Amino acid sequence: MTSTLSEQQLLVDDPTWWRQASVYQIYPRSFADANGDGIGDLRGIISRVPYLQQLGIDAVWLSPFYPSALADGGYDVADYRDVDPKIGTLDEFDQMVAALHGAGIRVIVDIVPNHSSDLHVWFQQALAAAPGSPERARYIFRDGLGEDGSQPPADWTSMFGGPSWTRVPDGQWYLHLFAKEQPDFNWDNPEVREDFHQTLRFWSDRGVDGFRIDVAHGLTKDLAETLPTQAELDAITEPGTHPLWDRDEVHEIYAGWRKVFDEYSPPRIAVAEAWVDTSRRPRYASADGLGQAFNFDLLEADFDAAQFTKIIADNLALSAASGSSTTWVFSNHDVVRHATRYALPARNGRPGKQGRDWLLSGGTEPVADVDLGLRRARAATLLMLGLPGSAYLYQGEELGLPEVADIPADQHQDPAFFRNPGVDPGRDGCRVPLPWTRGGASFGFGAGTAHLPQPAGYGDLSVEAQDGVAGSTLELYRAALALRHELQTDETLAWVDASDDVVHFERPGGWQVVTNFGTEPTALPDGEVLVTSEPLDGGLLPGATTAWVRTA
Ligand code: GLC
Repeated sequence: MTSTLSEQQLLVDDPTWWRQASVYQIYPRSFADANGDGIGDLRGIISRVPYLQQLGIDAVWLSPFYPSALADGGYDVADYRDVDPKIGTLDEFDQMVAALHGAGIRVIVDIVPNHSSDLHVWFQQALAAAPGSPERARYIFRDGLGEDGSQPPADWTSMFGGPSWTRVPDGQWYLHLFAKEQPDFNWDNPEVREDFHQTLRFWSDRGVDGFRIDVAHGLTKDLAETLPTQAELDAITEPGTHPLWDRDEVHEIYAGWRKVFDEYSPPRIAVAEAWVDTSRRPRYASADGLGQAFNFDLLEADFDAAQFTKIIADNLALSAASGSSTTWVFSNHDVVRHATRYALPARNGRPGKQGRDWLLSGGTEPVADVDLGLRRARAATLLMLGLPGSAYLYQGEELGLPEVADIPADQHQDPAFFRNPGVDPGRDGCRVPLPWTRGGASFGFGAGTAHLPQPAGYGDLSVEAQDGVAGSTLELYRAALALRHELQTDETLAWVDASDDVVHFERPGGWQVVTNFGTEPTALPDGEVLVTSEPLDGGLLPGATTAWVRTA
């Protein structure tokens, strides 16, 4: 791998690199498969470092690659300090970090602290040990209710549907807020706390630059003797008072992690996945804690000027409150891809995750307007890349990939699909392996068949089909990411116009970003048009299009 000295200097020197970084999320099992077994691997990632470098991102975030039985796509971790043999080895991990660093790309890994896999050695020891033993005290075990203890300690529903408590052969029950293969740790236990410090150091010592913290609003719980019912939990509205989520005490843990991060130079960074009330988000993003937190507001919004304007303004104010930078994200491994969300009718405040009903119908109801969805997704992304703060991108969005809606039932993998049949369509449709070439076995993903079926016609969206093609989504991302590097300076934004169907703001240096959310063409400011998400229409900005203009 060739790299310039300046790139390596940059990696060493800048402790604020994360504040306005563009971070590309890799779901390792579906990115690139070097050994042809149908599962993406670390050697596959290494082979695509030139692609990532050309894309122009600052960092990659790797979803879990740890040993796992894949009860939840790798978010069931059996060993926090190793690589799944199906994906690679620790040596290959080191090679991957070196290759990415050599290309000027930083590395963020996923830490899953709320729960382990049931195959984790600690949980296996807990099962083998007696009730009340130190082994069981690393997890959350309780006796059941009823005379014979055959009723669960509470009637709680897990995040993937089905019960949150599972009984073990000696009659006790353990808590799992997600799948039953994901027992929740007992964070009151100092041993658990110490072990995660070791894990953070283990990866930091290997050169990892930062961490994405899974379910950061979980971990600590108030499990007083009489547990509330699910109905009582559902009735809680006051932020910060829920016994299972977003408890104030969790920040003591992150204060300890911050000390670990600060042992390194530059300090390791972290970003919290915290699905919390907006008012509580700055705590996760504070400089004494994790330092940055996702906001999923854009991901839940319609393609709508008023919604976007409010979200941008609110989040800039929030990040000012924590001293962190804002984060933006449209797609990740948990949600319907934004090219498809925007192809569906606006949600207009309807509850539930956008696109779920459509997925349950097998992608037929309502009919998705695929062209409009992609057009809007491109406009939305170009707007996002013009905002101050960090932009998180999900693998395949740079190809404009749609959600895959026709995965046969027997080929699904997500526990959400199986635990909540007919209600939750699961998340496999955004985890389908990437198409790299127009044809061939698994469209260049690997030499074998991909572990999730790829749709026919996927090759037309492949890297090969878009590389060097003017106007392709891939070339739009490359152009925008390169320009972003040139243009990005202070984390400030001044509104030029935020009315009706247009969102228009200016960044320092006369960099203006204009998005037309409507259907009628609108005028652009005078200046040099740097990039547009669609061709202009006689000098005007067409509907569902973004332009960057340099006015200074
Ligand atoms: C997070 C992950 C998701 C996973 C869950 C449980 O929300 O993003 O994929 O299923 O945590 O670990």
